[in-house]
Amino acid sequence: MAEQIAVEVTRFSPERDKTPSIQSFDVPLRKEWVVLDALNYIKDKVDGSLSFRWSCRMGVCGSCGMMVNGEPKLTCATFLTDYAPGPVRIEPLKNFPVMRDLIVEINDFLGKLSKVKPWIIRQKEKPVTEGEYLQTPEQLDTYKQFSMCINCLLCYAACPVYGLDPMFSGPAALALAQRYNMDSRDEGKEERMDILSQHDGIWGCTFVGECTQVCPKHVDPAGAIQQYKLTATQEWFKSFIMPKGAK
Ligand code: SF4
Ligand code: FES
Repeated sequence: MAEQIAVEVTRFSPERDKTPSIQSFDVPLRKEWVVLDALNYIKDKVDGSLSFRWSCRMGVCGSCGMMVNGEPKLTCATFLTDYAPGPVRIEPLKNFPVMRDLIVEINDFLGKLSKVKPWIIRQKEKPVTEGEYLQTPEQLDTYKQFSMCINCLLCYAACPVYGLDPMFSGPAALALAQRYNMDSRDEGKEERMDILSQHDGIWGCTFVGECTQVCPKHVDPAGAIQQYKLTATQEWFKSFIMPKGAK
C-alpha cells in the first residue's frame, strides 16, 4: 500500500474568492484512517485555516457530511483506503450554498423541517397524574426506522428533485413527518397533511430513490414518501365520500 494519498479539497473564502477552487494535500495513508482523519491531519499539520464541520466521529451527530469523489458520505464513516491510490476529492455537500471551504449553509433545511412539525402533537394533553402515553413494541416498530435520521443531509445532496426545485421539502423532512404520523401517541397527522399535500410537499418526489441509497442510517426516506403519498390519496378520496363535518 502506498504511504501517502493525494487529498483534493475545495477551498472557498467569501471575503477573498469569487468562486471555489481545489487545493491538493499529501496525507499519510493509514489503514485505520477515515476521510475525516485526513481533513484533521491537514488542519492540524499543514493548514489550520481549512474549515469543515464535525463533532462525534462516530456517525451520530450528522455534521460531517461531504461529497467524497462525487458521492455524499459521512466522512467519519468512510475509510480513506477505499480511495487508494487516490487522488480523493472532498467537496461540500451538493445542492447547498457554500459558506466556507467544506461548510454549507443549511437554513433552508431547518426551515423546511420545522414546517412539517416534527414533534408529537396532542389535541388534548392528559394530566401528568394519569401517567405516560404507553406504546407497544409493535407500535414502535411502525416508525422506528424513520426515527433513526441524524439530519446529515446526504439525502438532500443526492436528491435530483431538490437540486432542481428548491421549494421541494426534501427527503429527511418528509421522512421525519412520517415518523410522527406513524407514532401511536401523535394526533397531528391532519395538520401535517395540509402542509405536505401541497406541490412542494410529497408530490414533488418522483421516486428516484437516490436518498435511500445514500442514507447512512437506513432511514429509507423514499419509502416514507411513497407510503405518505398513498395515505394522502386515500384521505383525498375519503374527503369526497365523507366530507369533514358530515355524520
Ligand atoms: S434520511 Fe438519512 S441521509 Fe437523510 S438526513 Fe436523515 S440520516 Fe441523513
Ligand atoms: S462526525 Fe458526527 S456523524 Fe460524522
